[in-house]
Amino acid sequence: MNARSEAEASLKEDVMPDPIVIAQRGPYVVDVGPGTVYWCRCGRSKTQPFCDGSHTGTDFSPMEVTVAERKQVAFCGCKHTKTPPFCDGTHSRLSVTEKGGSGGR
Ligand code: FES
Repeated sequence: MNARSEAEASLKEDVMPDPIVIAQRGPYVVDVGPGTVYWCRCGRSKTQPFCDGSHTGTDFSPMEVTVAERKQVAFCGCKHTKTPPFCDGTHSRLSVTEKGGSGGR
């Protein structure tokens, strides 16, 4: 790596956070509980809406969600909700140019 690319890599690490991947432009409505699940925050998991470890090497970590009894939950799929891990409708206001996963194209 030359000095310029090292500087660019350093700048990326210092200034630019890893981007969120839009896994799906809408919620994942699933039955969960009782127990603990780990909601994927980064959008990279292949087992949405749950973590599969794909965040490794990024700044993200999954959110632990404990559910006391079996119930249906609408987990955010766009990863931009203001009320994680639940869908709050933010997905409907995302820009169409916002990059995303398979559900966002
Ligand atoms: S999927 Fe609805 S706010 Fe993210």
